[in-house]
Amino acid sequence: MVATDEAIGLILQRVKTMAKIRTHFECQQCGYQTPRWMGRCPECGGWGTLTEERPTTEGGRGAGVRGPSPPPMPITEVQRPALTRVPTGFPEVDHTLGGGVVPGSVVLIGGDPGIGKSTLLLQIAARIAGQGRKVLYVSGEESAEQIRVRAERIGAMSPLLYLSAETRLEAIIDHGERITPDLLIVDSVQTMYAGSLESPPGSISQVREVATRLLTLSKERGTSTCLIGHVIKDGSFAGPKALEHIVDTVIYFEGDRQHAYRILRVTKNRFGSTHEIGIFEMTETGLQEVGNPSQMFLADRRQGVTGSVVVATMEGTRPLLVEIQALVAPTHASLPRRVVTGVDLHRVAILLAVLEKRLGMPLSTCDVFVNVAGGVRITEPAADLGVVAAVTSSFRNIPLDSRMVCFGEVGLTGEIRAVRHAAKRLHEAGQLGFSRCLLPEANEAGQREGREIEVVGLDTVDATMAVLFP
Ligand code: TYD
Ligand code: MG
Repeated sequence: MVATDEAIGLILQRVKTMAKIRTHFECQQCGYQTPRWMGRCPECGGWGTLTEERPTTEGGRGAGVRGPSPPPMPITEVQRPALTRVPTGFPEVDHTLGGGVVPGSVVLIGGDPGIGKSTLLLQIAARIAGQGRKVLYVSGEESAEQIRVRAERIGAMSPLLYLSAETRLEAIIDHGERITPDLLIVDSVQTMYAGSLESPPGSISQVREVATRLLTLSKERGTSTCLIGHVIKDGSFAGPKALEHIVDTVIYFEGDRQHAYRILRVTKNRFGSTHEIGIFEMTETGLQEVGNPSQMFLADRRQGVTGSVVVATMEGTRPLLVEIQALVAPTHASLPRRVVTGVDLHRVAILLAVLEKRLGMPLSTCDVFVNVAGGVRITEPAADLGVVAAVTSSFRNIPLDSRMVCFGEVGLTGEIRAVRHAAKRLHEAGQLGFSRCLLPEANEAGQREGREIEVVGLDTVDATMAVLFP
């Protein structure tokens, strides 16, 4: 190929601009880097997420790496790790982590502000300290006095639990080296900063630097580290999406603020499975484990009422069980009312038309109200089957089996269409104690084996009615 003058000129220009770069811009959401500022990140599509990051000064990147590198060795001679685990004193947490905290591992725990992350970690800290291990709890959000008051209230006092109100990474590392804790808790990673970087705390380079240096410390000392991270609206950890690759385990602590229950959910685990969840209840004296989650989940639901059903929906890649309620009442108005919250109004209108046409239900003479309990919003068609079940239950005035859960898309011809993540939805329903699941026939294959939950495949709305109202 012949390089034209124009092309050469362009390349030279590139080289010149690259040489001039001192700072770069980095997306605070996904970590995308670019030499010039852009209003929208081309990688993740976030608006206004690019901020200027200054390069590391000496002692920055790599400062945490010390000592000579051990020589490479044949894989057959590498020692198998003795995977000991430290129990947290909370069987639900241990279960979620795959048996306890692995020494030297770094766990990132994320969740909405106010969901109970600090409370949970303080309780875990006290229980681990109660086993005669040292725990260092560093908080950049509350004073040591505030933490003590809370700890007294929830019974999380122990002489082996050390507190430090600190935000400087260097100081934390110093404390860590002096106290040599078995567990280091950093609350939160977004408030900490490395003096070697000019970027402000919470920026992606700071968060990444803090995590990397603490990771090095953990691996060197065999200290387990728990980083608390705040989650922003769209569900990603604010800034440190990049952290998820660095740490060993990623856990979300989530729940509905109106209800007391909280779910601890692992989304990444180098030392165990990612399908486990732990369920807690927020009480006056901190978080309590919930022994029988199904009872708790069903506690808010009254049994034997009409127009209520639980659907297994997906929130991103995560399953979520929610209750759909419907009320169908005859009306004499010429324009019957359709009031819908939590699901798409147009979708509900289509489903009502399908029921009217395929099953002959005279819904055009009825007001229909549909609501998703708990303020949840479902955007996927897998909720269709739930809407159909709730509406017909209310219309016929026959309650549905309260231990039944369902999911599936309903097509215009009344067919039940397959949806994604059937196995995940079923697993979640089973874990929460439901005994029966209605799902699309096309999703049924291979789902029956080894499950405690009864799996019922459906192909049409007619077949659904036969199962719902035998
Ligand atoms: P917190 O652990 O501070 O949340 P996070 O660290 O995730 O921001 O908990 C916040 C809420 O939990 C607070 O609004 C009060 C409530 N709470 C209780 O209901 N009972 C308790 O014993 C404690 C400590 C907190
Ligand atoms: Mg907190």
